[in-house]
This record gives sequence, structure tokens and C-alpha cells, in this order.
Amino acid sequence: MKFHSILVFSLIWVARSNENSLLQGARNLMQAAVNKQSDEPNICDSTEDIPQNESIIQNYLDSTPSLADKFFIQGWRWHHLSIVRDAKRLNQYASIVKSGDEEDLEPLKKAVDFVFNFNLRGLADIEDKVFFPWLREKLLNSEYESEETKKAFASMIEDVDQDRKRVKDLASKIVSYMDLATENSVDQNMRRDALDNIITNTDAVYNLTNSIKAREDKFLVPALMKNVSSREQKFFNHKVLRSLGILQSRKYLIGMYDAVHDPDYGNEEEQTLFVEQIPLVARMMIGSWRKSLYEPEVGMLDLSPSNS
Ligand SMILES: *[C@@H]1O[C@H](CO)[C@@H](O)[C@H](O)[C@H]1NC(C)=O
Ligand SMILES: *[C@@H]1O[C@H](CO)[C@@H](O)[C@H](O)[C@H]1NC(C)=O
Ligand SMILES: *[C@@H]1O[C@H](CO)[C@@H](O)[C@H](O)[C@H]1NC(C)=O
Repeated sequence: MKFHSILVFSLIWVARSNENSLLQGARNLMQAAVNKQSDEPNICDSTEDIPQNESIIQNYLDSTPSLADKFFIQGWRWHHLSIVRDAKRLNQYASIVKSGDEEDLEPLKKAVDFVFNFNLRGLADIEDKVFFPWLREKLLNSEYESEETKKAFASMIEDVDQDRKRVKDLASKIVSYMDLATENSVDQNMRRDALDNIITNTDAVYNLTNSIKAREDKFLVPALMKNVSSREQKFFNHKVLRSLGILQSRKYLIGMYDAVHDPDYGNEEEQTLFVEQIPLVARMMIGSWRKSLYEPEVGMLDLSPSNS
């Protein structure tokens, strides 16, 4: 079993993506974000700044050949995608609980615990200890033709990092409101307030993680492929593997699989990548791992409003 797990696990994070499909995926995501935005009134009055830094980076990406034609750390992207999806599902489930039965508070608490204390914490730890230090080293120690490019990267990474901190703060708020909601001594009004706060804050987590993911896919992942060879990516990937827990990774894998196969989050290209990159033995285990490890903890989120 142990050997099996290691084998399965070490292949999970190894990507064999090709650059075109990855970039296409990123483009689709960005296009979706742009379409969404254009429906809304533009309330931003400092429109100069943000596109400027982004277009500096885009120019660099457009004019620089890639050292690697593949991105080998796909598990990181899918792990993040699973959290975007979990935040939305939690938001929807909390609304159902609020309009319904107090008996559902315990399952909601279980889901909150899974999403924030397990799934998000796993990703955040890896990013803090391993991924972001490496990203900074790779993108900010590079020689660029223009100093502006480096500054634009520094500013973007800083922004993403700030947003990651905000996500963590929101997550601990949600966990506290959940504790409050299930406290025996609180009255009906306080409980409803706590649920309202959970609903608002899970929506904010969804918005933020979605926006972080769009920037990572569009700018940071392609930038890494410019400067980091396939060999070095694979080497780094092993370091990531050693830092993640082997047993936990089975649960992360179910979340990744579901995100990639949910039409609101994944697409055919991601699904093809998943089949290419996740070994058959792991994919064959997904059904049984889902039953034994995943559904008991987070299965309640699979209820859509229509069938509850
Ligand atoms: C753009 O990058 C510069 C550094 O080059 C930074 O000072 C500025 O705050 C960034 N703008 C935005 C909106 O992030
Ligand atoms: C990659 O990064 C190194 C430093 O980490 C730098 O010396 C090199 O010029 C960079 N290569 C490219 C293609 O940007
Ligand atoms: C999340 O984004 C949507 C759409 O832009 C917006 O309507 C909503 O207010 C945002 N939620 C929070 C909590 O910021």
C-alpha cells in the first residue's frame, strides 16, 4: 500500500501538459473573467495602473521564448481550482441551511472544517513554505531586458500574496462564525447573523481565489515556463511531493478530479490533461476513495439546491 501510494502520489503532481492547451485554458479563464466584468458597471477610477503592469508582463511573455514547453506542476493548479469550487459550494450550502433546518448546522460545520482546515490549509502551507519562495526566486532573480518587467512581476506577486493572506483571514473568520453558529448558548438571531456572515465571507473567498487563479494562469505559469527548464520543474515537483502528506493527497485528488469535471470550473482540455497526468491506478481508486474518505466529510456539498 505504501509503495502504491508513493507511486500514485508522485505522479499526481507531475504534469505532462502541453503549453498550447495550458495557455488556451488560461485564455478561456481570462476571457470568462473579462466577459463577467463587462456586464458590470465600471467603478474603478484608477484604470491606468493595473492594466499597465499586466501589459508589461504580457509584452515580456509575448516576446520571450520558453525554456520549457510544458508545465510540470499541474497539481498545484487543480488544488487551487478545487478551493474556488469548494468556496462556491459552501456558499450555496450555507444559504440552504439558513433558509431551512437547524439540524443541518453540523454537516455545514463539517464542510467548513474540511474546506478551510484541510483543503485550503494544505494548499496554503505548500505555497508558503515551498511554492512562493521558489516562484520569487525564479521570477525576481531573473535578468530582464527592462527593469520595468521585474518590477511588474514583483508587484504582481506581492498583490497575489496579499490576496492569499486575505483568503486565510476570511477562512479563519468563517471558522469562528461557524463555531458561534453551533454554540448552544446563542439565540436564533445571533445564529442567523453568523450564517449571514458565513454566506458573505464564502462569497468573498470565491471571488478572491478566482481572481488569484486567473492571474496565476495567465501570467505566473507562463512566466515560469520561460525561465525554468522541464528538468528543474520536475526536480522542484519532487520537493513539493515530499512536503505534502501522502495520505492527505488522496483527498486532495478527489477535489481536483471533481473540479476538473465540473463544467463550471473545468473543461475538456483540463480533463484530458488529468487523464494524461494522473496514472490509471490512481484514477481507478477515485471511486472508492470518494466513498471512504471524501463523501463522509464533504459529501453534503454535492447537494445542489434543486435536489435538496
Ligand atoms: C505597478 O508596478 C509598480 C512597480 O513597478 C508599482 O509601484 C505599482 O503599485 C503597480 N501598480 C499596481 C496597480 O499594482
Ligand atoms: C532565468 O533566471 C536566471 C536567474 O535565476 C537568469 O540568470 C536568467 O537570465 C533567466 N533566464 C531567462 C530566459 O529569463
Ligand atoms: C463577488 O463578486 C460579485 C460579482 O463581481 C459581486 O457581486 C459580489 O458582491 C462579490 N462578493 C463579495 C463578498 O465581495
